[in-house]
Amino acid sequence: MPDPEEHPDVVRADRDAAREAVLGWYDEVARDLPWRRTDDPYAILVSEVMLQQTQVARVVPRFEDWLDRWPTAEALAAADRRDVLAAWVGLGYNSRAVRLQAACVVVAREGWPGDAKGLRALPGIGPYTAAAVASFAFGERVAAVDTNVVRISERLGLGEPDDLLPDDDRAPTWNQAAMELGATVCRARAADCPRCPAARWCRSAGRVVVPPRAAGGTRPRFEDTDRFVRGRIVAALASGGDWPDHLEPVRLERAIDGLVRDGLVVRTAAGVELREDHAG
Ligand code: ADE
Repeated sequence: MPDPEEHPDVVRADRDAAREAVLGWYDEVARDLPWRRTDDPYAILVSEVMLQQTQVARVVPRFEDWLDRWPTAEALAAADRRDVLAAWVGLGYNSRAVRLQAACVVVAREGWPGDAKGLRALPGIGPYTAAAVASFAFGERVAAVDTNVVRISERLGLGEPDDLLPDDDRAPTWNQAAMELGATVCRARAADCPRCPAARWCRSAGRVVVPPRAAGGTRPRFEDTDRFVRGRIVAALASGGDWPDHLEPVRLERAIDGLVRDGLVVRTAAGVELREDHAG
């Protein structure tokens, strides 16, 4: 718990020291990930949208295949939506693929916005993704605040995410470093304080309280979720593959309702079809 009596100069000094320690640590341990080797806003946008749902190790090959197939925003903008959805199978919510394409349609028409504010105005781009792209592609000094970064800031007790950002050109590196710390050390359910480069300055070191799991106990298996059923349906419609009729009809109907609500499919006299038009 932060001590309300703490002197602001002490907090500031600790924050500076913790930031340097994390940056030094990141320099040593950073994973070599393909989206960390580029400043192409399109590639970074694709990676960030994929990473919203899917683990790094699974994203890497999918990211590389995606860029081989659609190397630019213009290429993705011009793609058949069916192909885009088929290529997204296994990466999480289909609507993310549709929104990614919709953003690229605007970029193909108008060019890339120059900053996080402009990126935020693209269809389907939220504040985190806008900040991540602006930071990693344009070097903008803006905090990319995802759940990892919120958690780290709260545990450190040294200020808000914006306060942690370096005020020099290392802000993008800090954003990567903070994500890396959250993903590998300061994890939601397993804080590994002995391995943490910032432990010496952290207000929670050694006494992180892991929040209880949400009521209802453990997470359902992926195969039992609506998201899984939606994915099977879209895969079948996009690629002409087998309809998942081994699944319970009520689950299929519920999933179709969701897809209709999201504008991904339409019900027709013949059954269900993918909507043809581009979103956005
Ligand atoms: N998760 C979200 N963005 C990421 C990134 N740039 N690197 C690693 N994991 C991430």
